[in-house]
Amino acid sequence: MKSELPITLPVEKVIDEAEGVKSLIFRHKLDAKPGQFLMVWIPRVDLKPFGVSYLEEGSFGITVCKVGPTSEKLCRAKKGDLLGIMGPYGKPFTLEGRRIILVAGGYGAAPLFPLAEEAKKKGITTTFIIGAKSESYLIYRERAKKAGINTIITTDDGSCGRKCFTTDALEDALKAGGIDKVYSCGPEIMLKKVAELCRRHQVKCEVSMHRYMKCGFGVCGSCSVDDQGFPLCKKVVLTGEEALRIKEFGQHSRDASGTKQPFAR
Ligand SMILES: Cc1cc2nc3c(=O)[nH]c(=O)nc-3n(C[C@H](O)[C@H](O)[C@H](O)COP(=O)(O)OP(=O)(O)OC[C@H]3O[C@@H](n4cnc5c(N)ncnc54)[C@H](O)[C@@H]3O)c2cc1C
Ligand code: FES
Repeated sequence: MKSELPITLPVEKVIDEAEGVKSLIFRHKLDAKPGQFLMVWIPRVDLKPFGVSYLEEGSFGITVCKVGPTSEKLCRAKKGDLLGIMGPYGKPFTLEGRRIILVAGGYGAAPLFPLAEEAKKKGITTTFIIGAKSESYLIYRERAKKAGINTIITTDDGSCGRKCFTTDALEDALKAGGIDKVYSCGPEIMLKKVAELCRRHQVKCEVSMHRYMKCGFGVCGSCSVDDQGFPLCKKVVLTGEEALRIKEFGQHSRDASGTKQPFAR
């Protein structure tokens, strides 16, 4: 199903993923592929984009990190609450190669998890690097263990896994060789580093890049990127080389009014 008018669905289940992070599961057959996103309408509040983080036969879910008023409302949702769902939108990841690495920072693990599951089903050797600033913010550790997905955990403060950035763990793996493709989602400064490392090691890569999105399907122009001007929502998933051609990649995004917001370094 692809819907440009919201379909209203009750929340079937709420999962506590980490500090300030919840997943909302819906019972519905969603015709989506790993990497795509939904516009979620919270009645009387707002319409916001969220990646598809759970994708199973007959059910799907989103994972919400509490950062402001809408995400906070979503994190307070209970079983039976009604939400409007539009989509799926954006281009999915292209799964290829025999050995792949997935690199996630924060809620960036959300659209990558269904990709890890699909890769496992296809017998592709997968390493999932999941990073966060500290242990309490890490998501999907248990989920990955249960699904039998090989993970490397990194934290900025060393409270869990390796004390390093996700990109340090990626660089080690790329130096060891034999990697066919890298997929990444998370803070844009991290995505830029991932794309540059892959270019240096001549390994294919795809990144899921986010901008302020108001419509989600290419009409409002709020997600256009400098200096090419295309609406990012029509793609979201870009090859590393496509992303590196975007002038503002890793430099700044724009807020709801279109004002440039530089990324904190
Ligand atoms: C394609 C895509 C997929 C996303 N997937 C997820 C996900 O899986 N899980 C998750 O927790 N978050 C995801 N986000 C970000 C999520 O949309 C924002 O965190 C959310 O809209 C915040 O709204 P708020 O009112 O709580 O916060 P606000 O106080 O309004 O804003 C807090 C920050 O959230 C971002 N944001 C706010 N509104 C939007 C918007 N309409 N579009 C893009 N960014 C916005 C801005 O960076 C802003 O600085 C995704 C964004 C995009 C573009
Ligand atoms: S969000 Fe409206 S054009 Fe992309």
